[in-house]
Amino acid sequence: MKDFVFQNTTKIYFGKNQLGHLGEEIKPYGSRILLVYGGGSIKRIGLYEKVRNELKSKGLTVFELAGVEPNPRHTTVNKGADICKKEKIDVILAVGGGSTIDCSKAIAATRYYDGDCWDLVTGKAPVTQALPLFTVLTIAATGSEMDCGGVISNVETNEKLGLVDPLLQPKVSFLDPTNTFSVSAYQTACGSVDILSHIFDCFYFADDEGKMDMIDRVMEEVIKTVVKYAPIAIKEPGNYEARANLMWAASWALNGFLGTGTVMAPTCHMIEHEVSAFYDITHGHGLAILTPHWMEYILDETTAPQFKKFDVNVFNVDASLSDIEGAREAIARFKDFVFNTLGLKSRLSDLGVDDKNFAAMANKACPNGILAGYKKLTPSDIEAIFKMSL
Ligand code: NZQ
Ligand code: ZN
Repeated sequence: MKDFVFQNTTKIYFGKNQLGHLGEEIKPYGSRILLVYGGGSIKRIGLYEKVRNELKSKGLTVFELAGVEPNPRHTTVNKGADICKKEKIDVILAVGGGSTIDCSKAIAATRYYDGDCWDLVTGKAPVTQALPLFTVLTIAATGSEMDCGGVISNVETNEKLGLVDPLLQPKVSFLDPTNTFSVSAYQTACGSVDILSHIFDCFYFADDEGKMDMIDRVMEEVIKTVVKYAPIAIKEPGNYEARANLMWAASWALNGFLGTGTVMAPTCHMIEHEVSAFYDITHGHGLAILTPHWMEYILDETTAPQFKKFDVNVFNVDASLSDIEGAREAIARFKDFVFNTLGLKSRLSDLGVDDKNFAAMANKACPNGILAGYKKLTPSDIEAIFKMSL
């Protein structure tokens, strides 16, 4: 078990009747707001109007950056940072999903950098300062509303990289499950797999001596919550209980708590980001396909006990199975959940991916020749996982 420091400073307003607090929370930070949003879903659900009215009623001046792409582009970040500089923006308000929030984080930092945001993303230049960020979340998935990281794509170089800095932690996030009623069955499925993957990939399947058992128990309960409520949210999009459980599970999967006592080494995420970088696919769908193949690839006598523990504690499978049998059953049940219950397509080729770039993608996923995780992987291991997933 590793020593750790835990701090999460994001204030959460959760529930149906909280938006009236948005203006009062923002006001101490300034009056000139950049409202950032995606391709228009917030207009279709009436949230755009509500947010604008709330800000206006508190005397705040609103500027806008619309059209943030899923897998947000660095060029959009630069556009937002230019508005912030020109209009002397005090606060950024992201209304949307992980892409909108991530883009807003990068804008917040680039506001104080005299150059291309890509320099900050690649680490060529440090993040020195950031505008305060507020969020109104509209999809349960990434946890970006309660963490200090963002992921930005550069389509010119086929790169998708993380920008992580404590300065990017949102000040306040508004989580109203009713804002997620309109999320499609497909995006609900993808978001749910993303939540699960944050738990598996970052913490549950980790190469650590003496992990904290309490945290494993909490992870199993969060996983069970997603397994229970994702199918309900898909069948009944307006089910508040299901949407609320998914929303809160998403935030807690990646807000740092589940990482206490262990070292985060998100193997499948690093591999998936390469697929998104080259083929612009939906993050959660890429994870859904890659994760079970990664599990199969790393299964051996050293990894089997944790897979079996997962199977017994999450799916109530017979504990008398051998470790290897239990592990195989765990992978089979996970596949059944993702591809049958959630209905996601099971091959990368279904998403328009081909094998042309596998070698380049595998090399990029491990810049130092080794990718850390439950099992350390080399580029040839990663290429094999891509081929199994095709
Ligand atoms: O753009 P709009 O019109 O808003 O539509 C979006 C988009 O098409 C739609 N959507 C969102 N809320 C909706 C809605 N449609 C109807 N009703 C609503 N209420 O859903 C689509 C996907 O949105 P997006 O923001 O891309 O989804 P998500 O939250 O899954 O974010 C994915 C991005 O986050 C990154 C991913 O790599 C990807 O780029 N990640 C960020 C992380 C972080 N910051 O900590 C960690 C994650 O592992 C992940 O890598
Ligand atoms: Zn993710």
